[in-house]
Amino acid sequence: LRQASLLLRIPAAASLMLCAACGDPMYERGRLRPLDPTPFFPDGTTARRLVPGTVPRDEPATAVTETRQKFANLEELPVPLTRRLLERGREGFEIFCSVCHGSSGHGDGMVVRRGFTPPPPFHIERLRTAPIGHFVDVVTNGFGAMYSYADRVPLADRWAIAAYVRALQLSQHAPVSLLSPEEIERLPEEAR
Ligand code: HEC
Repeated sequence: LRQASLLLRIPAAASLMLCAACGDPMYERGRLRPLDPTPFFPDGTTARRLVPGTVPRDEPATAVTETRQKFANLEELPVPLTRRLLERGREGFEIFCSVCHGSSGHGDGMVVRRGFTPPPPFHIERLRTAPIGHFVDVVTNGFGAMYSYADRVPLADRWAIAAYVRALQLSQHAPVSLLSPEEIERLPEEAR
């Protein structure tokens, strides 16, 4: 009998809790339903767009293919190239990429020295001439033995990293003509 009366009390308590919210202006006030119009947001709708760079956890294969088409052939950085962007890119590269690709992109990071498949150096002709979008594409979709970093590196940071990879490439292949006369002076005879 005691158990039965306990069971009876549970729904009673639950309905009490529900009614605690009934007609409460604090609960009702300012609540917006999906797709309701609202003057609150500049675009006049309660429906919010996804934050740029949002990546769904269960991204279907088709979405991945679309992303591939979007990035792989892009020749130009879609954001201004600034020192800040390159520094952001260096930070992301050091955290996410250097463990395999090495700090200067020669493909000799610690994980590789411990036995992981070595990546190609970023300094080979094919990767030096690849469009910058290829790097964003590889980080987004993965490439062969390398898995995707899309869920760890937001899209804006992938571009920053791609810009930094370009800087690394230049660091190993800078033409002498980019140097000042004083810098050329400091080069060994055969490199001038
Ligand atoms: C766990 C190790 C690992 C990490 C971390 C890693 N990569 Fe890779 N990456 C590889 C391997 C291995 C390959 C070669 C894959 C293959 O050819 O099968 C590769 C290939 C590449 C390529 C060359 C693709 C081509 O066209 O040959 C690029 C570009 C690249 N990675 C960029 C990055 C960037 C940028 C990051 C950081 C966001 C990163 N990788 C992080 C292992 C890694």
